Amino acid sequence: MLEIAPSILSSDFTRLAEEIRAVQAGGATVLHVDVMDGHFVPNITIGIPVVESIRKITDLTIDTHLMIEEPSRFAVKFVEAGADMVSVHVEADVHLQRTLTAIREAGGQAGIAINPATSLTSLEEALPFADFVLLMSVNPGFGGQKFIHTSIDKLRRMRRIIDDRGLKTRIEIDGGIDASNIAEIVESGAEIIVSGTGVFGKGKPTEAVKELLDAGTVWV
Ligand code: DX5
Ligand code: ZN
Repeated sequence: MLEIAPSILSSDFTRLAEEIRAVQAGGATVLHVDVMDGHFVPNITIGIPVVESIRKITDLTIDTHLMIEEPSRFAVKFVEAGADMVSVHVEADVHLQRTLTAIREAGGQAGIAINPATSLTSLEEALPFADFVLLMSVNPGFGGQKFIHTSIDKLRRMRRIIDDRGLKTRIEIDGGIDASNIAEIVESGAEIIVSGTGVFGKGKPTEAVKELLDAGTVWV
């Protein structure tokens, strides 16, 4: 099932609750929350108290994307703060299987996030322990970057690996996605589509989510 996950990084934080209601009105079902620590990526954004606040005002699925070093120290805390989905970067965790299992045991959906230049072989062994994979189609750190087109081929290969192994792992993709490229991305096998600038960039988030859903509803 196609799901649109607006990234609140590009929203107006002074009106966050309103922005969340606006994307829900457009049909968004997942809220993507970008957590950055200034070490794993060159930017600092949102942490646990904000996730707790968002949990109080929405029933949307909260998807926390941890772009942090030592994610095993914090992953379960995000579930406890109210996150439904927690993704951890394969590049940041040498004990990925343990962290993914801890997220699941805490009641969350566990995800493996992977940067554009990291090979899929680095996550294959961990797939049975994950509910979803988050393919980065930009280098993480900032909203508003250009979609890296080789991500399409990587996405197709990821889809094939999951299908060949008979797994139920869902594929989420993140970075540089808007109504102009969403169809090709959905056709290539992604189910959960993150969009920040594409949703909030023009100041009409409800319409932008509807447009993404329309453009992304393709027969595969
Ligand atoms: C990038 C973040 C993304 C970002 C997406 O580091 O992980 O979630 O907010 O924003 P756009 O859609 O503008 O590329
Ligand atoms: Zn993200």
